[in-house]
Amino acid sequence: MCGIVGYIGKREAYPILIKGLHRLEYRGYDSAGCALMNDKGLHVYKAKGKVSDLEDVVMKASSEGEDITKSCTLGIAHTRWATHGVPSEVNAHPHVSESGRLTLVHNGIIENYATLREQLKKRGFHFKSETDTEVLVQLIEYTQNLKQCSLSEAVRNALKLVFGAYAVAVIDANHPDELVCARKSSPLAIGVVEDHSEYFLASDASPIAEYTKQIIYLKDEEVAVVSRGKDIKIYNLQGEETKGEVKEVNLDLSMLDHDGYDHFMLKEIFDQPNVLKDCMSGRIVESPYSSAYRGHEGPESGLQVVLSAVTQHRRELLRARRIIIVSCGTSWHAGLIGKQYIEHFCRIPVEVAYASEFRYSDPVIEPDDVVMAISQSGETADTLAAIEQAKAHGALVFGIVNAVGSSIARESHTGVYIHVGPEIGVASTKAFTGQVTVLAMLSLALGLAKGTMSQKEYDETIHELIQIPEKIKKVLEQNDKIKAIAQRFAKASNCLYLGRGWNFPVALEGALKLKEISYIHAEGYPAAEMKHGPIALVDEQMPVVFVATHHALYEKIISNMQEINSRGGHIYAVVTEGDEQVKKIVEDIIEIPQTIGWLVPLLSVIPLQLLSYHVAVAKGLNVDQPRNLAKSVTVE
Ligand code: G6P
Repeated sequence: MCGIVGYIGKREAYPILIKGLHRLEYRGYDSAGCALMNDKGLHVYKAKGKVSDLEDVVMKASSEGEDITKSCTLGIAHTRWATHGVPSEVNAHPHVSESGRLTLVHNGIIENYATLREQLKKRGFHFKSETDTEVLVQLIEYTQNLKQCSLSEAVRNALKLVFGAYAVAVIDANHPDELVCARKSSPLAIGVVEDHSEYFLASDASPIAEYTKQIIYLKDEEVAVVSRGKDIKIYNLQGEETKGEVKEVNLDLSMLDHDGYDHFMLKEIFDQPNVLKDCMSGRIVESPYSSAYRGHEGPESGLQVVLSAVTQHRRELLRARRIIIVSCGTSWHAGLIGKQYIEHFCRIPVEVAYASEFRYSDPVIEPDDVVMAISQSGETADTLAAIEQAKAHGALVFGIVNAVGSSIARESHTGVYIHVGPEIGVASTKAFTGQVTVLAMLSLALGLAKGTMSQKEYDETIHELIQIPEKIKKVLEQNDKIKAIAQRFAKASNCLYLGRGWNFPVALEGALKLKEISYIHAEGYPAAEMKHGPIALVDEQMPVVFVATHHALYEKIISNMQEINSRGGHIYAVVTEGDEQVKKIVEDIIEIPQTIGWLVPLLSVIPLQLLSYHVAVAKGLNVDQPRNLAKSVTVE
């Protein structure tokens, strides 16, 4: 978490830094700060709160004195998700060294900061903040003083003493033409231009993309020196020069705007029909085989799924004895749906693990296991650590990631991008349906190749899958109705989400969405399991949401509803259109179009996304930036 931006070049740094921070605010928004350098030295500004609060501070300072923002062409900036120390101005980055010469921004956690801090205190260093970051800037200055070396050498030597994760950018008041940055386990992208006249630095490509498409992603334990007019220099911690690989990154910048919607989350919910088409595009293609070859009379989609990762790693995937899915949060819920797909279509046993638990569980991983990492951001620290474990045991790592070029994408042996465009709202929506769509395509491609699914079921499922975007549009038409229902949830303190089979992970996801952005305590449960505990919570104050579509276990879920009904609970249900039975038992229903059972989650989750959105809006909360959360969780 935390977002870093840096600029060195010929333009005014401040507007670039601020725009970049706004783009990275999804990574944390507890405080913001920037350091700007001109020929008069360093100027540091900080504010508790959001990037807009920092803008107010800088504007006030400029109106009261000289507007230094106009004369600074070098700067670093930061938006914070607090780990060590409360959100406050003093804990905000950049942090400045004892002499005031060095200033630094950091994303990550320095695990041995307490010991280092004590040692530095004994050597006469003073600390203003409670952060681990301040230790790092002091340590760099201490090293530089001791060895009388360059800033980059001091950074390298200091980082050798550090345990933990970092992406850092440092500037030295004595060297106004140079910016030094480094990374380990936290992402850092450097935008380069051909004539080396300027460099852009950021935690991801979004603040850079409008200036250059040429991006170098620093690797672990690399330190880069960028200087105006000079070629970039990259070193490992031992001081040996390494070569940065320049990648061309094409980001659709229109995805980074609200586009007339009140919030990113609403836009991203409404984006789903289009982005799911993008996700399937080029992957569901005309089949070269005739209907005679397919040999059945079911719907003849005439289509097939082609995923290059499956073609390239066909042998390892077909011989996989087990698939272990590792992920966190919403991506973990997508993993639960993926398990159902893979087990049914491919008959491969699947385990779905929380990455944070998996990494410390001394897991049994065999070389013929496939470890599948699912992540929207591609930067989740726990998922990355799980990948490392998998690689160490010789398993094939298959990434399902949205953020192109992200750490998980790079660390995986192979994988499939979700291709739903950048997701800015902290609560994940389109990334979830994108992940489920990829998992459906993957299990279809693998199931057919393995011979564990019939051509008929393959054709029928593809035929339905390509209709999902249009069916989502139909669900979205009920936005006003869902908004009206949401008003009844706004006063609730607790809420229960129940579903079975394919809809159980959807119930979990619905509950997560509600608690993330409306701060109402919500639990997702398998509907039948509810009578072993949560039913004790049911009273007239508690809304209960059933995901009760017309599929397997439908009759059973009706009985579960009766159990809640007879205890005075207020039931709201997501049902298949035309359902007459549920209507009679519940307070209100939201209908979704008919589809096959496997694909129901892609439709039944949409009303739950909208419901949580409207509840949060009704409560007057910040939907896109809910308290305490961040979109990219780069710390454990
Ligand atoms: C955070 C986000 C969630 C996300 C989870 C996993 O908690 O707020 O929306 O589901 O991280 O992130 P990933 O990027 O790995 O999918």
